[in-house]
Amino acid sequence: MQRDLDRADWAVGLMQARQSVRNYKEEPIPEEILYEVLAAGVNSATGGNLQPYSIIVEKNRLKNQQLAQLCGGQSFIAQAPVNLIFLLDWHKLAVYSRKNNAPFTCNKSFRHYTIAMDDIVCAAQSVETAAWLYGIGSCYVGTILECIPVVAEMYKLPLLAAPVLLLSLGYPKTLAVPRKKLDQDLVVFRGAYPALSVEKICEAYDRKYSGMRFSLPADPHRRQALLEEFRAALRTTYNESKCDEIIQAADKAGSISEIQRRFGLHYHAAEMLSPDVIEGLASQGIYPFYGLLEQDPEL
Ligand SMILES: Cc1cc2nc3c(=O)[nH]c(=O)nc-3n(C[C@H](O)[C@H](O)[C@H](O)COP(=O)(O)O)c2cc1C
Repeated sequence: MQRDLDRADWAVGLMQARQSVRNYKEEPIPEEILYEVLAAGVNSATGGNLQPYSIIVEKNRLKNQQLAQLCGGQSFIAQAPVNLIFLLDWHKLAVYSRKNNAPFTCNKSFRHYTIAMDDIVCAAQSVETAAWLYGIGSCYVGTILECIPVVAEMYKLPLLAAPVLLLSLGYPKTLAVPRKKLDQDLVVFRGAYPALSVEKICEAYDRKYSGMRFSLPADPHRRQALLEEFRAALRTTYNESKCDEIIQAADKAGSISEIQRRFGLHYHAAEMLSPDVIEGLASQGIYPFYGLLEQDPEL
């Protein structure tokens, strides 16, 4: 492999400056560039070289509007000239296995599920990086996982294929202020995991989330509803008197911290493995928890 430090510096510099883009120009992405970008994805690393995925390219404006609605009304999906839907896809491997008298149980294996998801993220990230090097912005959308049956219907997906990730692509109209990340010394450890003090961890996250307090609504009904939602999430972790204390402090301050909003209002701690996801996967014949549940579904 040839070493070219100047070109490597250029590419790595761009990668270090990457950010999600949620505002796109109308400009279409030329098909030849899209082809190269996708070729980077298709050649990414994949456990056992199995490639248990497919990618649907969507350029149709109406379909993209529909996807935006399905994914929780995220309008940048409708604006993007291209959306890529990454499918966990064992259909092709199952057909080939059956034709060759090979056993096939990937769809009932937690380990195969996690490897397939790793493979998909490797492919998607290669696509994201290649696109960025061509000056194309992108944004991942995870919520597609919550509407598997509708998307399966839209794209006539066979059993054993399910949408698990969406990537919007387009030339950036504007760039956002880059989101703060943890410093390298809190992410990259050498030799062994260091003894991190509570103070060091909190300082690092305080820096990352500085200026991001979430104001509670002034309207008493909306405020009460929000606090109840917050309390329900808090109950997964704290006893009732601690919940009271946290809720009273939030009410008094009129705001909550970013991490309280993340886990208390946005990424609901108790709901992240939502029935929509498990049932959606099952509706496509995919059972990542088969053999791990108290009672397995009849197959
Ligand atoms: C698996 C995954 C799912 C994501 N889902 C969404 C999403 O549904 N909507 C969105 O606006 N951003 C989504 N993002 C983008 C993140 O919000 C973004 O990467 C993060 O805030 C860091 O910002 P940056 O990418 O600009 O560095 C997702 C990212 C990942 C990796």
